[in-house]
Amino acid sequence: MDIIRCENLSKVYQSGENKVYALNDVSVGFRKGTFTAIVGPSGSGKSTFLHLLSGLDRPTGGKVYYQDNDLYQYGDNQLSVLRRRRFGFVFQSYNLVKELTGMENILLPVMLDNRRPDKAYLDRVIELLDIGDRLNHLPGAMSGGQQQRVSIARALANKPAVLFADEPTGNLDGRNGREVLQLLRKTSYDLGITLVLVTHDIHVAEQAGRMIYIEDGRIARDSGADDPDRQ
Ligand SMILES: Nc1ncnc2c1ncn2[C@@H]1O[C@H](COP(=O)(O)OP(=O)(O)O)[C@@H](O)[C@H]1O
Ligand SMILES: [Mg+2]
Repeated sequence: MDIIRCENLSKVYQSGENKVYALNDVSVGFRKGTFTAIVGPSGSGKSTFLHLLSGLDRPTGGKVYYQDNDLYQYGDNQLSVLRRRRFGFVFQSYNLVKELTGMENILLPVMLDNRRPDKAYLDRVIELLDIGDRLNHLPGAMSGGQQQRVSIARALANKPAVLFADEPTGNLDGRNGREVLQLLRKTSYDLGITLVLVTHDIHVAEQAGRMIYIEDGRIARDSGADDPDRQ
């Protein structure tokens, strides 16, 4: 079963006389525990697709279902609660609060949700991401790769069902980028979290179990479903 899927998903921007189809009638599903890379040239609609799939933006047409719940039937508040509890986000910029330590940053979303952190689970995430020695440091005292790993731990803190990542290695050099990617991949497979990752880097995309190629707001190619049990 697909944990998340969309039907005829579209986003049209009106610019003067012209209509820009940022996303054009896309229907696709993602099985639980799989890792999919969304690839395509700049401006092809990758970020738009990710934002619509994850409830960060509303479509102009079509539907998104999370476990068969129609995402966009929810009001903004309900939608943001669902996003906070079921989805994790990682972006190109790390967006850490610079006055808070690594650990405080990681715990922030759990605290904002008035929930108690699951210590055993967090310990596992911290170990997988190998950031145990960074937790008492402020972001300013961490490298880019370390900051991104802390931001991944923060995205995972609420035990999301789906982790959405938009160019997560975009600000990192080759070696750090590869390392962060390997960790994202391993963490999501080990924890059974569905990973949907946008990248324009084909080497990054090759790490995924499935590749969806976007061109002009449409799916131009789809390598086909990933096997959730593959490591
Ligand atoms: N807020 C907006 N207003 C008008 N056009 C937009 C807006 N956001 C995105 N677009 C257009 O939609 C298309 C897809 O953008 P985007 O999803 O950001 O592409 P990608 O992430 O693949 O680089 C581009 O042509 C872009 O210019
Ligand atoms: Mg983009």
